[in-house]
Amino acid sequence: MTEAEIYKLYKGVYLPSSLHPPECLKYYEEFAFCKDDILIVTYPKSGTSWMQEIVPLIVSGGDPASVETLPTWKRIPCLEAQKPSSTFHFKRPSPRMFATHFQYNMMPSSFFEVKPKVIYLMRNPKDVFTSSFHYHKMATYLVKPGPQSEFFRKFLDGRVIYGSWFDHVKGWLNAEDKECIMYISYEELIMDLKASVTRIAQFLEKPLDAEVIEKIADQCLFKNMKKNKSSNYSMIPANLFDETKSKFLRKGIAGDWKNQLTAAEAEHFDAVYKDKMKDVKYKFVWD
Ligand code: A3P
Repeated sequence: MTEAEIYKLYKGVYLPSSLHPPECLKYYEEFAFCKDDILIVTYPKSGTSWMQEIVPLIVSGGDPASVETLPTWKRIPCLEAQKPSSTFHFKRPSPRMFATHFQYNMMPSSFFEVKPKVIYLMRNPKDVFTSSFHYHKMATYLVKPGPQSEFFRKFLDGRVIYGSWFDHVKGWLNAEDKECIMYISYEELIMDLKASVTRIAQFLEKPLDAEVIEKIADQCLFKNMKKNKSSNYSMIPANLFDETKSKFLRKGIAGDWKNQLTAAEAEHFDAVYKDKMKDVKYKFVWD
């Protein structure tokens, strides 16, 4: 298949065609939010799956069944990948939980009217690049990344799925109604998972006892998610994920870009970052 067949352009960004056929996008555009919905928003490879473990455990008060009975993508479905026939995903007790990789300006009109709760998870873009490069080698529904230098150029230009990291982050940071949005980073989760779980629980208005927080943080450790077959993506067939190339839960660390980028690439990345993020006031943990 050619790149043009594997990806489609939607609202100016590339999407994997197989995940987002027209009926899914139509369903997404017409989707009606409820005020108590919880939406996890990420640029791909920022730790979406981690948040898809943390949030259900908070909502369930730490009950492990919430993450051990349904695989990640069913427990918190990706909103823009649902067929109208899969509406059973949405007939669930509140709060309903969804994930999306879409940019702020791609959200459906109901989102801006209803203003559900959003957890916007960010990650150092050099680590996002690194994780994404490996993911593109193993995910057979994506265009092969080619040599690192080629994928590097595409990533910085935003010629990758879900568009530019810079546009994504800036769009969501500049969102209106910020009181409905919690901003958090992968690096904060890495640095202090218990404190992060506490913050998220407060935002979700689900205060939890210290021992429940402790239990949730433990369940969400990389090594423990690796053991949970509902969370380690082992249910994905080998024709979609070629685990001989890489794993979905690959390294789970901050700063792996240092093992991936050449010195010249890191320098170039920093220069592009400095220019594109020059007007952003938000203090990122990795800056
Ligand atoms: P790496 O490829 O750097 O290991 P997403 O879910 O958005 O696709 O992001 C996947 C990235 O999040 C992968 O990064 C994965 O290992 C990491 N991740 C998922 N769960 C994690 C956890 N419990 N702890 C640390 N990293 C985690």
